Amino acid sequence: MSQASISGEVPSMARRQFMNLLVGGSAAVTVLGALYPVVQYFIPPAKGGKGGGETAKDALGKDVLASEVLANHQAGERVMVQGLKGDPTYLVITDDKQIASYALNAVCTHLGCVVPWNVAEGKFICPCHGSQYDSTGKVVRGPAPLSLALAHVEVNDDVVQLLPWKETDFRTNEAPWWS
Ligand code: FES
Repeated sequence: MSQASISGEVPSMARRQFMNLLVGGSAAVTVLGALYPVVQYFIPPAKGGKGGGETAKDALGKDVLASEVLANHQAGERVMVQGLKGDPTYLVITDDKQIASYALNAVCTHLGCVVPWNVAEGKFICPCHGSQYDSTGKVVRGPAPLSLALAHVEVNDDVVQLLPWKETDFRTNEAPWWS
């Protein structure tokens, strides 16, 4: 075997090994990618206490901190955050300047407009077709058929967490329509 043919095998061996690594590596990535949701399913959420909790996020996607909310807002205000599934959600600042243990989904139950808090009226008034909700999000004027959906609020290490509300709606004493 000539010197040229021996030296010619070296790069081809190296290339083969490289190709094997590449194919093996991408197969591993594919398998890991496919397994990820399965593995995720069995790992409990790191934060949130009860299952299904999500950290409230601000408009920039940062975690909402209770200390900052209370430093920057007055008693009686409604503070919009990104809530469960990214839905616009109001934190309620109580009259004694605490974050209430419930939050309100800001999506109007008529046709889905985001409902602003009207400070002067002390109500949520939908700009689309005029539906009104009281300060707890209970519908008081149609055409909206239902009250604003509730979520539980927990503060863990100053981070505001939202959790699904599956219990009786305290405003209507009915089962929650949203779960
Ligand atoms: Fe709110 Fe129609 S979407 S009243």
